Amino acid sequence: MRAEVLTPFLDGLMTRIADYHLASLEPGQKTVDYLSEESRRKTTDLSLPLEGNGPERVLDDIDEFLRQCIKTNNPQFMNPLWGGLNLSAFAGEVIAALTNQSMYTYELSPIATLIEKAIIFRMMEIIGYGDGFGTFTTGGSNGNMLGMLCARQSLYPSSSHGGFDGTKHVAFVSAEAHYSVLMSANVIGIGHQNLIKVACDSNGRMKPESLRDEIQRAQQNDLIPFCVIATSGTTVRGAFDPLSEIAAISHDENIWLHVDAAWGGSCLFSSKHRDLMSGVELADSVCWDAHKMMGLPLICSAFLTKHKEVLGGVCAHGNAAHYLFHEDTKDVDLGRFSLQCGRRNDSLKLWIAWREIGDAGWAEMVNRYCELGDYLQATVQSHPKLEMMSDRSWSNVCFRYVVEGHDLNELNVELRARLIREGIHLVSRSNILDDVVIRAVVANPLVDESVLNGLVAAIVRHGDEIVAGVPAQF
Ligand SMILES: Cc1ncc(COP(=O)(O)O)c(C=O)c1O
Repeated sequence: MRAEVLTPFLDGLMTRIADYHLASLEPGQKTVDYLSEESRRKTTDLSLPLEGNGPERVLDDIDEFLRQCIKTNNPQFMNPLWGGLNLSAFAGEVIAALTNQSMYTYELSPIATLIEKAIIFRMMEIIGYGDGFGTFTTGGSNGNMLGMLCARQSLYPSSSHGGFDGTKHVAFVSAEAHYSVLMSANVIGIGHQNLIKVACDSNGRMKPESLRDEIQRAQQNDLIPFCVIATSGTTVRGAFDPLSEIAAISHDENIWLHVDAAWGGSCLFSSKHRDLMSGVELADSVCWDAHKMMGLPLICSAFLTKHKEVLGGVCAHGNAAHYLFHEDTKDVDLGRFSLQCGRRNDSLKLWIAWREIGDAGWAEMVNRYCELGDYLQATVQSHPKLEMMSDRSWSNVCFRYVVEGHDLNELNVELRARLIREGIHLVSRSNILDDVVIRAVVANPLVDESVLNGLVAAIVRHGDEIVAGVPAQF
């Protein structure tokens, strides 16, 4: 870009960034202008021109995107396990893109390497690992896969070279675990059928006695248990599996224990809620997404293990990459502990945000989100037309609209569809066993009691209109 267009371009960009953020501070803003995929495709210019449109049009394209995108920074955006805009982390993200470091070697990312290591060591300390190592990954899904790969590597250190016959190896997860464990089972070569789902209690927590039974049953069938994956903060209910009991069983049986704390890991900051993960220090590995509750821009996710040499074994590539890795820097290069080659500098934004608010800031955030979860639960419980579908353990609140004489699943599906078309409150449609539930998640610093009251009012209004036979207004 030429110097004379650079300044107006950057000014224009900054104005758009500020406007985007400031809009979310206005109460009741729309989160999305609903449009079907077909209508959106037909009404948007998506063409890639033969001759470029020139720098003057770049801001127009940005405007179009900003106009059409979901406003994930709006407090009414409560659908996934993240939301909001952490401005200092956003600044870190911009600087990471500006400076474009790649995390494979110290030589090519000197300060970024030190920052990533500082965060890994601090997260390990919080977990209670006296020793170990870790890496930033592409997310909790990838962290779960790395956990399973480490389990395999720990059992068969030569498998990274010689391969592995996974047909008899079984891993155990809670029946409510995240779907990424299925993809991990596929990637590591045991297949979906060798991922054994362990029964949960009525609050969605893995039952330790069922885990023990399943392990014994597998052994009796000549299968080889090699990995248990416990979840700290399940996707739908936010349940925390009992880690101490699960760790005792895994240790008795000499099975690797991985904890999927993608969603719930931040409880470790709060003295009030840390007990949800008591026993985590006994696990062999943990994944923890800072891009969920901690509100970092996607992607920001750590995988941590007590067994540095096992992670190193999984990621070993010999002397193949002589153009990057050399013997004299083997102790400082992060690329020996990652499955990626080129890798984004995801730790900078976390380091910047963490230094701004400290551990105390994260603890306050966790406590506030749980308080708001309690508030929403109490509001639902006190409303005659709403029903909680599971007790709140974290900041997920699962409930539904109820009325006699209607199919409640159909009714709640339609209700949520109307919410989306209205475009203000976005919540997830999920299932608990056979029931459709509305899952609202508090994971945005702008959420407060009035936002939750607005959500409840909208849900009840739509439910009442459906029951009264009022057609959708959108
Ligand atoms: C419990 C749990 N584990 C793992 C994941 C996957 O995380 P990611 O989206 O970072 O891959 C999720 C995503 O919601 C999750 O809820």
